[in-house]
Amino acid sequence: MTEAYITTPIYYVNDKPHIGHAYTTFACDTLARFWRLQGKNVKFLTGTDEHGQKVEKAAAVASVSPQDFVDEVSQTFRHLIDKMNVTNDDFIRTTEPRHIKAAQALWTRLLTNGSIYLGEYAGWYAVRDEAFYAESELVNGKAPTGADVEWLVEPSYFFKLSAYQDQLLAYYKAHPDFIAPESRRNEVIRFVEGGLHDLSVSRTSFKWGVPVPGDDRHIMYVWLDALTNYMTALGYPDEQNTDFKTFWPEAVHVVGKDILRFHAVYWPAFLMAADLPLPRQIFAHGWWTNEGVKISKSLGNTIDPIELIDTFGSDAVRYFLMREISFGQDGDFSRQALINRINSDLANAYGNLAQRVLSFIYKNADAIVPTPGELTTEDSTFLNLPMQFLPTIDEMQINRYAEGVWALIAKANQYVDEHKPWDLKKTDPERMNTVLYVLADFIRQIAILTQPLVPLASAKILNQLSVPEADRLFSCLNTKLRPDTKLPEPMGVFPRI
Ligand code: MSP
Repeated sequence: MTEAYITTPIYYVNDKPHIGHAYTTFACDTLARFWRLQGKNVKFLTGTDEHGQKVEKAAAVASVSPQDFVDEVSQTFRHLIDKMNVTNDDFIRTTEPRHIKAAQALWTRLLTNGSIYLGEYAGWYAVRDEAFYAESELVNGKAPTGADVEWLVEPSYFFKLSAYQDQLLAYYKAHPDFIAPESRRNEVIRFVEGGLHDLSVSRTSFKWGVPVPGDDRHIMYVWLDALTNYMTALGYPDEQNTDFKTFWPEAVHVVGKDILRFHAVYWPAFLMAADLPLPRQIFAHGWWTNEGVKISKSLGNTIDPIELIDTFGSDAVRYFLMREISFGQDGDFSRQALINRINSDLANAYGNLAQRVLSFIYKNADAIVPTPGELTTEDSTFLNLPMQFLPTIDEMQINRYAEGVWALIAKANQYVDEHKPWDLKKTDPERMNTVLYVLADFIRQIAILTQPLVPLASAKILNQLSVPEADRLFSCLNTKLRPDTKLPEPMGVFPRI
Protein backbone atom coordinates (compact mmCIF):
# COMPACT_ATOMS: atom_id res chain seq x y z
CA MET A 1 0.00 0.00 0.00
CA THR A 2 1.32 3.45 -0.77
CA GLU A 3 1.32 6.22 1.78
CA ALA A 4 0.28 9.84 1.55
CA TYR A 5 0.59 12.61 4.12
CA ILE A 6 -1.31 15.84 3.53
CA THR A 7 -1.31 18.94 5.70
CA THR A 8 -3.14 22.26 5.85
CA PRO A 9 -1.34 25.30 7.23
CA ILE A 10 -2.05 25.60 10.92
CA TYR A 11 -4.36 28.54 11.40
CA TYR A 12 -3.70 31.62 13.46
CA VAL A 13 -6.08 31.87 16.36
CA ASN A 14 -6.05 35.65 16.61
CA ASP A 15 -9.06 35.77 14.33
CA LYS A 16 -12.19 33.81 13.59
CA PRO A 17 -12.22 31.35 10.67
CA HIS A 18 -12.94 32.75 7.22
CA ILE A 19 -13.36 31.43 3.71
CA GLY A 20 -9.57 31.23 3.12
CA HIS A 21 -9.19 28.76 5.98
CA ALA A 22 -12.15 26.73 4.79
CA TYR A 23 -10.79 26.65 1.25
CA THR A 24 -7.41 25.11 2.10
CA THR A 25 -9.04 22.62 4.44
CA PHE A 26 -11.70 21.56 1.91
CA ALA A 27 -9.04 21.07 -0.75
CA CYS A 28 -6.89 18.92 1.54
CA ASP A 29 -9.91 16.92 2.65
CA THR A 30 -11.00 16.34 -0.94
CA LEU A 31 -7.51 15.08 -1.83
CA ALA A 32 -7.31 12.95 1.32
CA ARG A 33 -10.65 11.35 0.54
CA PHE A 34 -9.64 10.80 -3.07
CA TRP A 35 -6.38 9.10 -2.14
CA ARG A 36 -8.13 6.86 0.40
CA LEU A 37 -10.56 5.78 -2.31
CA GLN A 38 -7.55 4.85 -4.41
CA GLY A 39 -6.56 2.52 -1.59
CA LYS A 40 -3.75 4.65 -0.20
CA ASN A 41 -2.84 4.80 3.46
CA VAL A 42 -3.47 8.49 4.17
CA LYS A 43 -2.65 10.72 7.07
CA PHE A 44 -4.29 14.14 7.04
CA LEU A 45 -3.30 16.85 9.49
CA THR A 46 -4.72 20.24 10.34
CA GLY A 47 -4.57 22.41 13.45
CA THR A 48 -3.94 25.80 15.00
CA ASP A 49 -0.91 28.08 15.24
CA GLU A 50 -1.20 29.51 18.73
CA HIS A 51 1.94 31.47 19.54
CA GLY A 52 3.20 34.89 18.57
CA GLN A 53 2.79 38.52 19.33
CA LYS A 54 -0.53 38.88 17.52
CA VAL A 55 -2.10 36.23 19.71
CA GLU A 56 -0.56 37.74 22.83
CA LYS A 57 -2.07 41.09 21.89
CA ALA A 58 -5.47 39.68 20.99
CA ALA A 59 -5.58 37.98 24.40
CA ALA A 60 -4.66 41.25 26.10
CA VAL A 61 -7.45 43.03 24.25
CA ALA A 62 -9.88 40.33 25.40
CA SER A 63 -8.47 40.62 28.97
CA VAL A 64 -7.75 36.91 29.25
CA SER A 65 -4.54 34.93 29.54
CA PRO A 66 -3.03 33.85 26.21
CA GLN A 67 -3.61 30.19 27.12
CA ASP A 68 -7.30 30.74 27.92
CA PHE A 69 -7.60 32.75 24.75
CA VAL A 70 -6.12 30.08 22.48
CA ASP A 71 -8.07 27.30 24.22
CA GLU A 72 -11.24 29.07 23.26
CA VAL A 73 -10.40 30.17 19.72
CA SER A 74 -8.90 26.85 18.69
CA GLN A 75 -12.34 25.36 19.50
CA THR A 76 -13.92 27.52 16.82
CA PHE A 77 -11.55 25.98 14.29
CA ARG A 78 -12.46 22.49 15.49
CA HIS A 79 -16.09 23.43 15.24
CA LEU A 80 -15.53 24.61 11.67
CA ILE A 81 -13.93 21.36 10.54
CA ASP A 82 -16.78 19.37 12.10
CA LYS A 83 -19.26 21.47 10.19
CA MET A 84 -17.21 21.04 7.04
CA ASN A 85 -17.33 17.23 7.39
CA VAL A 86 -13.56 16.97 7.28
CA THR A 87 -11.73 13.67 7.78
CA ASN A 88 -8.50 14.82 9.41
CA ASP A 89 -6.63 12.12 11.34
CA ASP A 90 -5.14 14.53 13.83
CA PHE A 91 -5.60 18.11 14.99
CA ILE A 92 -2.47 19.76 16.26
CA ARG A 93 -2.15 22.77 18.54
CA THR A 94 1.27 24.36 18.92
CA THR A 95 0.68 24.89 22.64
CA GLU A 96 0.53 21.13 23.24
CA PRO A 97 3.44 19.56 25.15
CA ARG A 98 4.15 17.13 22.28
CA HIS A 99 4.73 20.08 19.99
CA ILE A 100 6.80 22.18 22.38
CA LYS A 101 9.02 19.13 22.81
CA ALA A 102 9.40 18.73 19.03
CA ALA A 103 10.13 22.41 18.38
CA GLN A 104 12.74 22.49 21.14
CA ALA A 105 14.35 19.29 19.86
CA LEU A 106 14.70 20.76 16.38
CA TRP A 107 16.15 23.94 17.85
CA THR A 108 18.69 22.02 19.95
CA ARG A 109 19.77 20.05 16.91
CA LEU A 110 20.30 23.25 14.89
CA LEU A 111 22.13 24.96 17.73
CA THR A 112 24.37 21.97 18.44
CA ASN A 113 25.49 21.62 14.84
CA GLY A 114 26.22 25.31 14.49
CA SER A 115 23.28 26.24 12.21
CA ILE A 116 21.94 28.66 14.85
CA TYR A 117 24.16 31.30 16.49
CA LEU A 118 23.60 34.17 18.90
CA GLY A 119 23.89 37.64 17.39
CA GLU A 120 22.13 40.99 17.49
CA TYR A 121 19.00 42.12 15.77
CA ALA A 122 18.80 45.79 14.95
CA GLY A 123 15.84 47.63 13.53
CA TRP A 124 13.16 50.28 13.94
CA TYR A 125 10.96 49.30 16.85
CA ALA A 126 7.61 50.74 17.86
CA VAL A 127 6.91 50.17 21.53
CA ARG A 128 3.24 50.93 21.08
CA ASP A 129 2.93 48.19 18.44
CA GLU A 130 5.60 45.94 19.95
CA ALA A 131 6.83 45.41 16.43
CA PHE A 132 9.92 45.92 14.33
CA TYR A 133 9.62 47.78 11.04
CA ALA A 134 11.98 47.86 8.09
CA GLU A 135 13.37 51.22 6.98
CA SER A 136 11.25 50.94 3.85
CA GLU A 137 8.05 50.54 5.88
CA LEU A 138 8.42 53.83 7.74
CA VAL A 139 6.16 56.72 6.79
CA ASN A 140 7.60 60.17 7.57
CA GLY A 141 9.88 58.63 10.17
CA LYS A 142 7.05 56.84 11.95
CA ALA A 143 5.63 53.33 11.91
CA PRO A 144 2.92 52.73 9.27
CA THR A 145 0.51 52.71 12.23
CA GLY A 146 1.61 56.21 13.19
CA ALA A 147 3.48 55.04 16.29
CA ASP A 148 6.88 56.54 17.21
CA VAL A 149 9.82 54.31 16.44
CA GLU A 150 13.26 53.97 17.99
CA TRP A 151 16.38 52.22 16.75
CA LEU A 152 16.62 49.13 18.86
CA VAL A 153 19.33 46.54 19.14
CA GLU A 154 18.40 43.33 20.88
CA PRO A 155 20.15 39.99 21.20
CA SER A 156 18.72 37.42 18.81
CA TYR A 157 19.53 33.95 17.61
CA PHE A 158 20.02 33.62 13.87
CA PHE A 159 19.67 30.71 11.51
CA LYS A 160 22.40 30.51 8.86
CA LEU A 161 19.97 30.76 5.97
CA SER A 162 22.57 32.48 3.75
CA ALA A 163 24.55 29.24 3.64
CA TYR A 164 21.69 27.39 1.91
CA GLN A 165 21.25 29.33 -1.32
CA ASP A 166 23.14 26.90 -3.55
CA GLN A 167 21.83 23.81 -1.84
CA LEU A 168 18.23 25.02 -2.16
CA LEU A 169 18.62 25.93 -5.82
CA ALA A 170 20.21 22.55 -6.54
CA TYR A 171 17.35 20.84 -4.72
CA TYR A 172 14.66 22.71 -6.69
CA LYS A 173 16.44 21.77 -9.89
CA ALA A 174 16.74 18.10 -9.00
CA HIS A 175 13.12 17.93 -7.80
CA PRO A 176 11.03 19.88 -10.30
CA ASP A 177 7.78 18.94 -8.52
CA PHE A 178 8.92 20.06 -5.09
CA ILE A 179 7.19 23.42 -5.54
CA ALA A 180 3.96 23.63 -7.50
CA PRO A 181 2.39 25.10 -9.54
CA GLU A 182 5.24 25.96 -11.85
CA SER A 183 4.68 29.73 -11.86
CA ARG A 184 5.06 29.76 -8.08
CA ARG A 185 8.14 27.59 -8.33
CA ASN A 186 9.73 30.15 -10.63
CA GLU A 187 8.95 32.95 -8.18
CA VAL A 188 10.66 31.06 -5.37
CA ILE A 189 13.71 30.33 -7.51
CA ARG A 190 14.02 34.01 -8.43
CA PHE A 191 13.75 34.96 -4.78
CA VAL A 192 16.48 32.53 -3.70
CA GLU A 193 18.70 33.54 -6.62
CA GLY A 194 18.44 37.09 -5.32
CA GLY A 195 20.43 36.05 -2.24
CA LEU A 196 19.46 34.97 1.26
CA HIS A 197 20.20 36.66 4.57
CA ASP A 198 20.51 34.89 7.88
CA LEU A 199 17.16 34.73 9.59
CA SER A 200 16.39 36.02 13.06
CA VAL A 201 14.79 33.05 14.83
CA SER A 202 14.24 34.25 18.39
CA ARG A 203 12.48 37.13 20.09
CA THR A 204 12.90 38.78 23.47
CA SER A 205 10.34 41.56 23.09
CA PHE A 206 7.33 39.41 24.01
CA LYS A 207 6.75 36.19 25.90
CA TRP A 208 4.08 34.12 24.17
CA GLY A 209 6.08 31.40 22.43
CA VAL A 210 8.17 28.28 22.85
CA PRO A 211 11.06 29.04 25.22
CA VAL A 212 14.49 28.70 23.62
CA PRO A 213 16.11 25.70 25.31
CA GLY A 214 18.86 26.83 27.68
CA ASP A 215 18.13 30.56 27.25
CA ASP A 216 14.64 31.41 28.34
CA ARG A 217 15.01 35.13 27.89
CA HIS A 218 14.24 34.18 24.28
CA ILE A 219 11.25 32.56 22.66
CA MET A 220 11.42 30.84 19.29
CA TYR A 221 10.40 32.72 16.13
CA VAL A 222 6.81 31.70 15.54
CA TRP A 223 7.45 30.30 12.03
CA LEU A 224 10.21 27.96 13.17
CA ASP A 225 7.87 26.81 15.92
CA ALA A 226 4.85 26.53 13.60
CA LEU A 227 6.53 24.72 10.70
CA THR A 228 7.70 21.98 13.04
CA ASN A 229 4.06 21.00 13.65
CA TYR A 230 4.09 18.89 10.49
CA MET A 231 6.70 16.60 12.07
CA THR A 232 5.32 16.76 15.62
CA ALA A 233 2.18 15.00 14.48
CA LEU A 234 4.27 12.07 13.22
CA GLY A 235 6.05 11.59 16.52
CA TYR A 236 9.15 13.76 15.96
CA PRO A 237 11.66 13.97 17.69
CA ASP A 238 11.35 10.19 17.77
CA GLU A 239 12.69 9.61 14.27
CA GLN A 240 12.27 5.87 14.70
CA ASN A 241 8.52 6.34 15.16
CA THR A 242 6.78 4.28 12.46
CA ASP A 243 4.55 7.19 11.47
CA PHE A 244 7.53 9.46 11.07
CA LYS A 245 9.45 6.95 8.99
CA THR A 246 6.47 6.05 6.82
CA PHE A 247 4.74 9.35 6.27
CA TRP A 248 7.29 12.11 6.60
CA PRO A 249 8.98 11.64 3.21
CA GLU A 250 5.50 11.61 1.59
CA ALA A 251 4.43 14.95 3.06
CA VAL A 252 2.47 17.33 0.83
CA HIS A 253 2.02 20.77 2.37
CA VAL A 254 -0.87 22.69 0.85
CA VAL A 255 -0.53 26.42 1.57
CA GLY A 256 -1.80 29.76 0.32
CA LYS A 257 0.49 31.68 -2.01
CA ASP A 258 1.19 34.26 0.72
CA ILE A 259 3.00 31.74 2.91
CA LEU A 260 4.87 29.88 0.20
CA ARG A 261 8.24 31.42 1.02
CA PHE A 262 8.16 30.09 4.58
CA HIS A 263 7.39 26.61 3.31
CA ALA A 264 9.54 26.47 0.20
CA VAL A 265 12.63 28.35 1.40
CA TYR A 266 12.92 28.50 5.19
CA TRP A 267 11.43 25.11 5.96
CA PRO A 268 13.60 23.05 3.58
CA ALA A 269 16.66 25.00 4.75
CA PHE A 270 15.86 24.19 8.40
CA LEU A 271 15.44 20.53 7.47
CA MET A 272 18.63 20.42 5.42
CA ALA A 273 20.50 21.96 8.34
CA ALA A 274 19.00 19.37 10.69
CA ASP A 275 19.85 16.59 8.25
CA LEU A 276 16.22 15.52 8.02
CA PRO A 277 14.34 14.41 4.89
CA LEU A 278 12.38 17.09 3.02
CA PRO A 279 8.65 16.88 2.31
CA ARG A 280 7.62 15.65 -1.13
CA GLN A 281 5.79 18.78 -2.24
CA ILE A 282 4.74 22.29 -1.34
CA PHE A 283 1.63 23.25 -3.27
CA ALA A 284 0.56 26.89 -3.25
CA HIS A 285 -3.06 27.75 -4.01
CA GLY A 286 -4.43 31.13 -5.00
CA TRP A 287 -6.57 33.63 -3.15
CA TRP A 288 -10.28 34.30 -3.26
CA THR A 289 -11.68 37.76 -3.67
CA ASN A 290 -15.25 38.63 -2.62
CA GLU A 291 -17.39 39.94 -5.50
CA GLY A 292 -14.21 41.20 -7.13
CA VAL A 293 -12.79 42.88 -4.02
CA LYS A 294 -9.78 41.78 -1.99
CA ILE A 295 -10.94 40.18 1.26
CA SER A 296 -9.80 41.99 4.38
CA LYS A 297 -10.92 42.49 7.90
CA SER A 298 -10.58 46.25 7.62
CA LEU A 299 -12.90 46.31 4.60
CA GLY A 300 -15.35 44.18 6.56
CA ASN A 301 -15.92 41.85 3.62
CA THR A 302 -14.71 38.57 5.08
CA ILE A 303 -16.87 35.56 4.27
CA ASP A 304 -17.99 33.39 7.16
CA PRO A 305 -17.77 29.72 6.13
CA ILE A 306 -20.07 28.65 8.98
CA GLU A 307 -22.85 30.89 7.72
CA LEU A 308 -22.38 29.52 4.18
CA ILE A 309 -22.48 25.92 5.38
CA ASP A 310 -25.55 26.60 7.54
CA THR A 311 -27.30 28.10 4.53
CA PHE A 312 -26.19 25.82 1.69
CA GLY A 313 -24.72 22.68 3.32
CA SER A 314 -21.10 21.59 3.45
CA ASP A 315 -21.26 19.53 0.24
CA ALA A 316 -22.45 22.48 -1.81
CA VAL A 317 -19.87 24.90 -0.43
CA ARG A 318 -17.09 22.35 -0.91
CA TYR A 319 -18.21 21.53 -4.43
CA PHE A 320 -18.36 25.19 -5.41
CA LEU A 321 -14.92 26.02 -4.02
CA MET A 322 -13.34 22.98 -5.66
CA ARG A 323 -15.15 23.29 -8.98
CA GLU A 324 -15.19 27.01 -9.59
CA ILE A 325 -11.47 27.68 -10.06
CA SER A 326 -8.47 25.63 -10.97
CA PHE A 327 -6.43 24.79 -7.91
CA GLY A 328 -3.45 27.13 -7.78
CA GLN A 329 -5.19 30.10 -9.43
CA ASP A 330 -6.94 33.03 -7.78
CA GLY A 331 -10.72 33.13 -7.93
CA ASP A 332 -13.68 35.32 -7.21
CA PHE A 333 -16.41 34.35 -4.78
CA SER A 334 -19.93 35.48 -5.40
CA ARG A 335 -23.08 34.23 -3.76
CA GLN A 336 -24.86 34.20 -7.08
CA ALA A 337 -22.16 32.02 -8.66
CA LEU A 338 -22.48 29.62 -5.72
CA ILE A 339 -26.26 29.45 -6.11
CA ASN A 340 -25.92 28.96 -9.87
CA ARG A 341 -23.57 26.01 -9.38
CA ILE A 342 -25.84 24.48 -6.76
CA ASN A 343 -28.85 24.71 -9.04
CA SER A 344 -27.22 23.67 -12.29
CA ASP A 345 -24.59 21.09 -11.32
CA LEU A 346 -26.00 19.68 -8.11
CA ALA A 347 -29.80 20.00 -8.21
CA ASN A 348 -30.54 19.91 -11.95
CA ALA A 349 -27.81 17.60 -13.19
CA TYR A 350 -26.81 15.21 -10.43
CA GLY A 351 -29.74 15.37 -8.04
CA ASN A 352 -32.31 15.13 -10.79
CA LEU A 353 -30.57 12.13 -12.35
CA ALA A 354 -30.50 10.20 -9.09
CA GLN A 355 -33.99 11.23 -8.09
CA ARG A 356 -35.79 10.46 -11.32
CA VAL A 357 -34.12 7.08 -11.85
CA LEU A 358 -34.35 5.89 -8.26
CA SER A 359 -37.92 6.98 -7.69
CA PHE A 360 -38.93 5.43 -11.01
CA ILE A 361 -37.40 2.13 -9.90
CA TYR A 362 -39.03 2.47 -6.50
CA LYS A 363 -42.46 3.06 -7.96
CA ASN A 364 -42.38 0.95 -11.10
CA ALA A 365 -39.96 -1.88 -10.40
CA ASP A 366 -41.08 -2.94 -6.92
CA ALA A 367 -38.20 -1.09 -5.22
CA ILE A 368 -35.66 -3.73 -6.23
CA VAL A 369 -32.70 -3.46 -8.61
CA PRO A 370 -34.23 -4.80 -11.85
CA THR A 371 -32.74 -7.86 -13.56
CA PRO A 372 -31.42 -6.73 -16.95
CA GLY A 373 -32.02 -8.56 -20.22
CA GLU A 374 -29.29 -8.61 -22.83
CA LEU A 375 -27.37 -5.32 -23.07
CA THR A 376 -27.18 -3.62 -26.48
CA THR A 377 -23.80 -2.40 -27.71
CA GLU A 378 -24.95 1.10 -26.87
CA ASP A 379 -25.82 0.04 -23.31
CA SER A 380 -22.41 -1.56 -22.78
CA THR A 381 -20.53 1.36 -24.24
CA PHE A 382 -22.45 3.70 -21.99
CA LEU A 383 -21.98 1.56 -18.90
CA ASN A 384 -18.24 1.34 -19.52
CA LEU A 385 -17.75 5.11 -19.52
CA PRO A 386 -17.15 5.59 -15.78
CA MET A 387 -14.72 2.68 -15.72
CA GLN A 388 -12.77 4.10 -18.62
CA PHE A 389 -12.70 7.44 -16.91
CA LEU A 390 -9.95 6.12 -14.58
CA PRO A 391 -10.10 8.42 -11.57
CA THR A 392 -6.97 10.53 -11.30
CA ILE A 393 -6.23 13.99 -10.01
CA ASP A 394 -3.12 14.98 -11.91
CA GLU A 395 -1.16 17.96 -10.69
CA MET A 396 -3.74 18.52 -7.95
CA GLN A 397 -6.28 19.71 -10.52
CA ILE A 398 -9.37 18.87 -8.51
CA ASN A 399 -11.57 21.03 -10.75
CA ARG A 400 -10.60 19.00 -13.81
CA TYR A 401 -11.62 15.83 -12.01
CA ALA A 402 -14.96 17.43 -11.15
CA GLU A 403 -15.48 18.46 -14.77
CA GLY A 404 -14.80 14.91 -15.91
CA VAL A 405 -17.28 13.39 -13.48
CA TRP A 406 -19.97 15.93 -14.34
CA ALA A 407 -19.50 15.19 -18.02
CA LEU A 408 -20.49 11.61 -17.14
CA ILE A 409 -23.55 12.88 -15.30
CA ALA A 410 -24.57 14.77 -18.42
CA LYS A 411 -24.23 11.58 -20.47
CA ALA A 412 -26.44 9.74 -18.01
CA ASN A 413 -29.18 12.35 -18.21
CA GLN A 414 -28.96 12.11 -21.98
CA TYR A 415 -29.32 8.32 -21.77
CA VAL A 416 -32.47 8.70 -19.66
CA ASP A 417 -33.97 11.16 -22.15
CA GLU A 418 -33.15 8.96 -25.13
CA HIS A 419 -34.31 5.65 -23.66
CA LYS A 420 -37.41 6.98 -21.92
CA PRO A 421 -38.11 4.28 -19.33
CA TRP A 422 -41.57 5.84 -18.75
CA ASP A 423 -42.53 4.97 -22.36
CA LEU A 424 -40.96 1.52 -22.14
CA LYS A 425 -43.13 0.79 -19.16
CA LYS A 426 -46.10 0.63 -21.50
CA THR A 427 -44.44 -0.76 -24.62
CA ASP A 428 -41.60 -3.04 -23.49
CA PRO A 429 -41.31 -3.71 -19.73
CA GLU A 430 -38.42 -6.12 -20.24
CA ARG A 431 -36.39 -3.48 -22.02
CA MET A 432 -37.41 -1.01 -19.32
CA ASN A 433 -35.78 -3.29 -16.74
CA THR A 434 -32.56 -3.36 -18.72
CA VAL A 435 -32.48 0.41 -19.15
CA LEU A 436 -33.17 0.92 -15.44
CA TYR A 437 -30.50 -1.54 -14.45
CA VAL A 438 -27.93 0.14 -16.67
CA LEU A 439 -28.84 3.52 -15.21
CA ALA A 440 -28.78 2.32 -11.61
CA ASP A 441 -25.36 0.76 -12.09
CA PHE A 442 -24.13 3.90 -13.81
CA ILE A 443 -25.35 6.04 -10.92
CA ARG A 444 -23.62 3.69 -8.49
CA GLN A 445 -20.33 4.35 -10.27
CA ILE A 446 -20.92 8.09 -10.42
CA ALA A 447 -21.67 8.14 -6.69
CA ILE A 448 -18.39 6.33 -6.02
CA LEU A 449 -16.57 8.94 -8.08
CA THR A 450 -18.29 11.94 -6.47
CA GLN A 451 -17.44 10.90 -2.89
CA PRO A 452 -14.45 13.27 -2.50
CA LEU A 453 -16.43 16.22 -3.90
CA VAL A 454 -19.86 15.79 -2.31
CA PRO A 455 -19.28 13.18 0.40
CA LEU A 456 -22.62 13.43 2.23
CA ALA A 457 -24.77 13.30 -0.89
CA SER A 458 -22.69 10.50 -2.42
CA ALA A 459 -23.17 8.41 0.70
CA LYS A 460 -26.93 9.02 0.56
CA ILE A 461 -27.10 7.91 -3.06
CA LEU A 462 -24.97 4.83 -2.40
CA ASN A 463 -27.23 4.01 0.56
CA GLN A 464 -30.27 4.41 -1.66
CA LEU A 465 -28.69 1.87 -4.00
CA SER A 466 -27.94 -0.43 -1.02
CA VAL A 467 -24.23 -0.48 -1.91
CA PRO A 468 -22.33 -1.89 1.11
CA GLU A 469 -19.72 0.39 2.71
CA ALA A 470 -16.95 -2.01 1.72
CA ASP A 471 -17.86 -1.70 -1.97
CA ARG A 472 -17.31 2.04 -2.33
CA LEU A 473 -13.62 2.23 -3.23
CA PHE A 474 -12.52 3.15 -6.76
CA SER A 475 -11.46 -0.47 -7.20
CA CYS A 476 -15.17 -1.37 -6.97
CA LEU A 477 -16.10 0.68 -10.02
CA ASN A 478 -15.88 -2.39 -12.21
CA THR A 479 -17.98 -4.62 -9.98
CA LYS A 480 -21.71 -4.80 -10.73
CA LEU A 481 -24.79 -3.74 -8.90
CA ARG A 482 -26.54 -6.92 -7.76
CA PRO A 483 -29.99 -7.40 -9.36
CA ASP A 484 -32.83 -8.12 -6.96
CA THR A 485 -31.30 -5.98 -4.22
CA LYS A 486 -34.01 -4.31 -2.16
CA LEU A 487 -33.86 -0.51 -2.29
CA PRO A 488 -35.03 1.95 0.38
CA GLU A 489 -37.38 4.80 -0.48
CA PRO A 490 -35.38 7.47 -2.36
CA MET A 491 -35.10 11.01 -1.08
CA GLY A 492 -33.87 14.10 -2.89
CA VAL A 493 -30.25 14.87 -2.08
CA PHE A 494 -29.70 18.34 -3.52
CA PRO A 495 -32.44 20.88 -2.87
CA ARG A 496 -32.73 23.69 -5.40
CA ILE A 497 -32.06 27.16 -4.05
N1 MSP B 1 -0.31 30.37 10.81
C1 MSP B 1 0.12 30.59 9.48
C2 MSP B 1 0.47 29.26 8.80
C3 MSP B 1 1.50 28.44 9.51
S1 MSP B 1 1.78 26.93 8.71
C4 MSP B 1 3.10 26.27 9.47
C5 MSP B 1 -0.96 31.30 8.68
N2 MSP B 1 -2.20 31.23 9.16
S2 MSP B 1 -3.46 32.02 8.57
O1 MSP B 1 -4.55 31.65 9.42
O2 MSP B 1 -3.18 33.41 8.46
O3 MSP B 1 -3.70 31.59 7.10
C6 MSP B 1 -4.03 30.29 6.76
C7 MSP B 1 -4.27 30.09 5.29
O4 MSP B 1 -5.42 30.81 4.85
C8 MSP B 1 -3.11 30.50 4.40
O5 MSP B 1 -2.76 29.40 3.57
C9 MSP B 1 -3.69 31.62 3.57
O6 MSP B 1 -3.18 31.62 2.28
C10 MSP B 1 -5.15 31.25 3.54
N3 MSP B 1 -5.96 32.39 3.14
C11 MSP B 1 -6.18 33.53 3.84
N4 MSP B 1 -6.96 34.35 3.09
C12 MSP B 1 -7.26 33.76 1.91
C13 MSP B 1 -8.10 34.07 0.81
N5 MSP B 1 -8.73 35.22 0.70
N6 MSP B 1 -8.23 33.11 -0.16
C14 MSP B 1 -7.65 31.88 -0.05
N7 MSP B 1 -6.88 31.56 0.96
C15 MSP B 1 -6.52 32.54 1.87
O7 MSP B 1 -0.66 31.87 7.66
